[in-house]
Amino acid sequence: MNTSTSNVLQAVWLDPFSPLDDEQRAQLGEAGLALHAISTLGDLTLALKRAHVMIIRLGDSADLLREVQTLIGQLGFNVPVICRVERRRMEVTVDAMRHGAMHVLPTDEWSVAAWQGATQGMQMVDSNHPKSFVFVDPVSQHLLALAQRVAQTEVTALLVGPTGAGKEVLARVLHESSQRAKGPFVALNCSALPEHLIEDMLFGHEKGAFTGAHKDHKGLFEQAQGGTVFLDEIGEMPIHLQAKLLRVLQEKKLNRLGGEAAIDLDVRVIAATNKDLRQAIEAREFREDLYFRISTFRLRIQPLCERPGDILPLAMQALNRLAKDNIPLSLSIESQLMLQQYPWPGNVRELENVIQRAVVLCRGCVVTPAHLMFDETQPMMLHSIADTHILKAVHVAEPATPSPDSFMAPNSSDDMKVTAPEDLMSAVKASEHQVILAAIQATESRVEAAKKLGISPRTLRYKLAQLRERGMDLAVAA
Ligand SMILES: Nc1ncnc2c1ncn2[C@@H]1O[C@H](COP(=O)(O)OP(=O)(O)OP(=O)(O)O)[C@@H](O)[C@H]1O
Ligand SMILES: [Mg+2]
Repeated sequence: MNTSTSNVLQAVWLDPFSPLDDEQRAQLGEAGLALHAISTLGDLTLALKRAHVMIIRLGDSADLLREVQTLIGQLGFNVPVICRVERRRMEVTVDAMRHGAMHVLPTDEWSVAAWQGATQGMQMVDSNHPKSFVFVDPVSQHLLALAQRVAQTEVTALLVGPTGAGKEVLARVLHESSQRAKGPFVALNCSALPEHLIEDMLFGHEKGAFTGAHKDHKGLFEQAQGGTVFLDEIGEMPIHLQAKLLRVLQEKKLNRLGGEAAIDLDVRVIAATNKDLRQAIEAREFREDLYFRISTFRLRIQPLCERPGDILPLAMQALNRLAKDNIPLSLSIESQLMLQQYPWPGNVRELENVIQRAVVLCRGCVVTPAHLMFDETQPMMLHSIADTHILKAVHVAEPATPSPDSFMAPNSSDDMKVTAPEDLMSAVKASEHQVILAAIQATESRVEAAKKLGISPRTLRYKLAQLRERGMDLAVAA
C-alpha cells in the first residue's frame, strides 16, 4: 500500500565546521533520524538517492543553502532542507527561511523534541511514491488506525465527511489494508450518472436484455469479485435502485438485467456520503433499512482545518508530485504560515488546486505568498478589508487593478489558462497589499502586524517600501 508508515527518516548531514560525534548522532537517532554525514557537496549525488531530508549548517550567510538547492534541483531530486545556524546570527536565520529552508534550528540544539518538531510531517511524505497518502495529524493517525482495524473485518463501512476531505482515499486504505487487497477495487460515483446507467453499471446485463444489448455485460459488482466495491455519494442513489442494492447486500447474490440465474457475489461494500443520510431518510429520499445495512461501521473524516498537522505534508506531497521538469519547489516560511491559517473549505482537493496554481505561477524554486491563490478570499481579508478607505487607497494607486471579487482564484485549471499571467500577478500583488494595509490598520505596531500576517518584520518593512514606491498613501499605516 502507498501509506508510508516508516518512522525513520533518512537524512543527509552536511556540517563544514565540525564533525558529528557519537552522542549527537545517537540523540538525533532517538528523534527518528538516520544520519548520513557527507563532507563536501560533491558527495551529495549518491547520498540524496535515499534521503528524505537534508540538514546543512550555515556560516555567516545563506549561500550554502542556495548552492544546495540548486544542486538538488539539477540532480532532479525533491528533498526539503533544514538549516542549522548559530543563535546569534539572526539575519542568516531569516535569510534561510526566506530562501525556503523547511526549518532553521540553532547549531547547539540537540534535544529530541526540537528535532522531532522540525521533522514532523516529513515522515509520511515519501517522494518516491507519486501518490502516497498523508495521515500525520494525530486526528488522522487515529482515523488511519481505526480504518486499519475495521479493514480486518468484513463489515460494511460508511465513510462520512465533507467534500474533498479524502473519503475515496480512506476507502482505498480500507481495501488495501484488508484481506482483499490483492483483489480489485472498483469505485462508482452514484451522483455522476443517470439512473438507468447506474443500474447497468452496477448489476450488468445479459445479451438481448434491451435494444442495443448485443452481448453479456458484467456489472461493477461482478468485476469486483474477491475485492471491494466503493459506492461514492450513495445518498444520491435513486430510491428504486436502493431496494435492489439492499437485496444484493443481504443475499450476496445478484441478477443481471434480463438475467435468470442469480450470481454469487464475494465483494465487500464501502459507501461514502457528504449528505446527512438521517435527514434524507426523513425526507423519504433514502431507505432506512439500507442505511442500517451500510452503516455497520461509520468512519468520519474531519475537515482539513480540524487536522492542521496534515496541511504542510499534503502541500509538500502535492509540490513533489506536480513539480515542473522535476525541479523541486519548496515553501517559504510565510507561505507555510498562510497555508496553515487558511480554513480550507474545499479540504484536500482545494489544497491540491492551490498548490497546482502555485506551481504554475512560481518561476523560481521557492513558493511565496504571492503564488498562493485560494478558492475563497481569506477570512482575514474578509474581516479587515471592510475599510473602504484602504480599498480606495489601493485602487487609486493602481487603476487597472481588478475588483476585489476577481481576486478569488478561478476554480478550474482551464480558467487559469485563459488568464494572462500579468493580470493574475497584479491581482495577487494588489490583494497582498490590501491584506498588509488591513493588518496594519488592525494592530498597534508593525511587529504585531507582521505577526498577524505570518511574515517577519523585515519582510513587512520591505513590502511597505514597495507600496510607497508605488505611490500608495501610507498615512493610514503610520
Ligand atoms: N490523506 C490524503 N493523502 C493524500 N491525498 C489525499 C488525502 N486525502 C485526500 N487526498 C486527495 O485529495 C483529493 C480529494 O480526495 P477524495 O476524492 O478522496 O475526497 P472525497 O472526500 O471523496 O471528495 P468528494 O466528496 O468530492 O467525493 C484527491 O486528489 C485525493 O487524492
Ligand atoms: Mg469522493
